[in-house]
Amino acid sequence: MRITMIGSGYVGLVSGACFADFGHDVICVDKDEGKIAALKAGRMPIYEPGLDTLVASNVAAGRLTFTTDLTASVAGADAIFIAVGTPSRRGDGHADLSYVFAATEEIAAAVTGPTVVVTKSTVPVGTGDKVEAILREKRPEVDVQVVSNPEFLREGAAIGDFKRPDRIVIGTDDEGAKRVMRGVYRPLYLNESPILFVGRRTSELIKYAANAFLATKITFINEIADLCEAVGANVQDVSRGIGLDNRIGKKFLHAGPGYGGSCFPKDTLALLKTAEDFESPVHIVEAVVKVNDSRKRAMGRKVLHALGEGDPRGKTVALLGLTFKPNTDDMRDAPSIAIAQALLDAGVVVRAYDPEGMEPAQRMMPDLTYCHDAYEAAIGADAVVIVTEWDAFRALDLGKLKGAMAAPVLVDLRNVYRRDEVEGAGFAYTAVGR
Ligand code: UDX
Repeated sequence: MRITMIGSGYVGLVSGACFADFGHDVICVDKDEGKIAALKAGRMPIYEPGLDTLVASNVAAGRLTFTTDLTASVAGADAIFIAVGTPSRRGDGHADLSYVFAATEEIAAAVTGPTVVVTKSTVPVGTGDKVEAILREKRPEVDVQVVSNPEFLREGAAIGDFKRPDRIVIGTDDEGAKRVMRGVYRPLYLNESPILFVGRRTSELIKYAANAFLATKITFINEIADLCEAVGANVQDVSRGIGLDNRIGKKFLHAGPGYGGSCFPKDTLALLKTAEDFESPVHIVEAVVKVNDSRKRAMGRKVLHALGEGDPRGKTVALLGLTFKPNTDDMRDAPSIAIAQALLDAGVVVRAYDPEGMEPAQRMMPDLTYCHDAYEAAIGADAVVIVTEWDAFRALDLGKLKGAMAAPVLVDLRNVYRRDEVEGAGFAYTAVGR
């Protein structure tokens, strides 16, 4: 099949490369000439494990191409995916749909034959209706169906998630569009990945409900972690104790510094806006957003507390891991930002290291001292804080770390160490909910 992918960001690029790997003929489009030039030269605009080789092999096989020319790419496509960004609109938290509608207008101007336009971007309920209205108004003579097909991939595990999804959700009532979408996902269909055909509005809501539920699960265990600290219980054992109940499930019960990233913060806010617009409040998600925001600041206070009595001014803290999670260079809404700010506000000198996120971190937080590895960051530090659980921080040489530090204090916001091993190495140890 011929697939056009409009938007070569995280979702668009990964989806495009994976569709090509399924054997489809894929054109990835982006307005950003620099990005397209880089992709043509084999350079990835994002860090995602395995993406470079997947792109290279499909480009070599002639199934994957890149262009800035949307008009030419749309002609003759069996399916046109819209995978542009839907960031939070400044000021009100609504999803900003200007890129989606701009892409729709361009598709409307260029579309030739019968085709299916698929929104893969995370879009609020009713967006598919608006996309359809634009296409019908501009090109009443062309047979176009508008389908919702949200993407559930996680950064850092994107290719695996795309190729072995828990489910594929397709929102359309049109039989022809269903046939096209079955063709698009044929290899997964054959793999017996469940495909859910639902109404378009339902499909749009499933994506928000899924992300809000996962954000709720994380926030729940984070509050239970605080309670564990208060009562002297162990949150990791609580997670296991409840997670083994199949109705609850083990995943997304790791207590930590709060969720961040490009999806949960923006999608929970957008869901609340939809709820407000339709006067059908989702109070649980309101609480989740509030609790998660205050948690990130609370983690800054936790670190200050670990520094001990006395004025923190002039002390030094090393932050290990700045991205919102490992295996990505994404800094969006990362807890490290609020933590670093709380430390800077208290007059603390902040040294920092991240395996992949240094460039964006330096742009966002110019007041930190950036180092080449964990041990350099630890030089002269009064505390080392594990903010993001990169593998490189899971087996630190504690003796070497301690040797570099001014005071042996380890704050483990991701619970990657055992208390006895850290204390055995002569550190004061602070974890989360243990
Ligand atoms: C998420 C969804 O998982 C994915 O389905 C959707 O398509 C996009 O949003 P992503 O943002 O890439 O994916 O990251 P994810 O692995 O879900 O982690 C999100 C945040 O939650 C991170 O900050 C992570 O550290 C945090 N988290 C996750 C926890 O604190 N505890 C957990 O148990 C799980």
